[in-house]
Amino acid sequence: MAHGLHVAIIMDGNGRWATARGRLREYGHRQGAHAVRRVVQAAPDTGVGILTLYAFSSDNWKRPRREVSALMALFRRYLRTEIAELKENGVRLQVIGRRDRLPAAVLRAVEEAEAATAGGERLVLRLAVDYSARHALLEAARISMNGGGGDFAGALGKAIHGGEAGAPDVDLLIRTGGEKRLSDFLLWECAYAELVFTPRMWPDFNGEDLRAALQEFGRRDRRFGLVAAAV
Ligand code: FPP
Repeated sequence: MAHGLHVAIIMDGNGRWATARGRLREYGHRQGAHAVRRVVQAAPDTGVGILTLYAFSSDNWKRPRREVSALMALFRRYLRTEIAELKENGVRLQVIGRRDRLPAAVLRAVEEAEAATAGGERLVLRLAVDYSARHALLEAARISMNGGGGDFAGALGKAIHGGEAGAPDVDLLIRTGGEKRLSDFLLWECAYAELVFTPRMWPDFNGEDLRAALQEFGRRDRRFGLVAAAV
């Protein structure tokens, strides 16, 4: 497991970014994939050890079929084309969320990318696909009741990945696109996360924006429910 901060990002604003340019929403998602590349490249040098990106929520299945297909095709292409660079940069990729509803080709690409990058030690990149925190919590409760998974965090890891994708709590949650909500993302893991909301649309987000959010995080006074002197 990589050491460092756990940063989670709700990558919002692709659709609006594209619409504002007279383009289809799918174009925004494709540009969003470039932003993913930039941020994954920048993360290890900024002290981030785990990066969890919200790529597709379980509610996103309700979007028009054309957009869902475009996103699935984009994930598959990303997983295929990025493996070599991820490996080279010491990035270990894990996909969290439900696997039972993913198109077979996407699932295969996920498994291949996870196996190929398993040795990465600089950064754990967790992509949340068909992810719902509420669903994960219910699954984890079921696993716990049946005596599996060890402590609850372990059961949760099992629920969202099956393997050992348990991760420490989120330190910093960033949401782009101007909205200020959690949208069913990492509800348990964000119990004490610092929240940073930025109006920047995801396709415009870059390493500098990540650094700025981390600086903001550094200025926060984290007390975990205690008084200042006791921490
Ligand atoms: C939210 O923007 C974004 C998504 C639902 C998809 C996130 C996907 C990417 C960033 C694509 C690339 C990802 C990988 C892992 C290759 P939105 O469409 O809800 O934007 P809007 O709020 O402006 O409509």
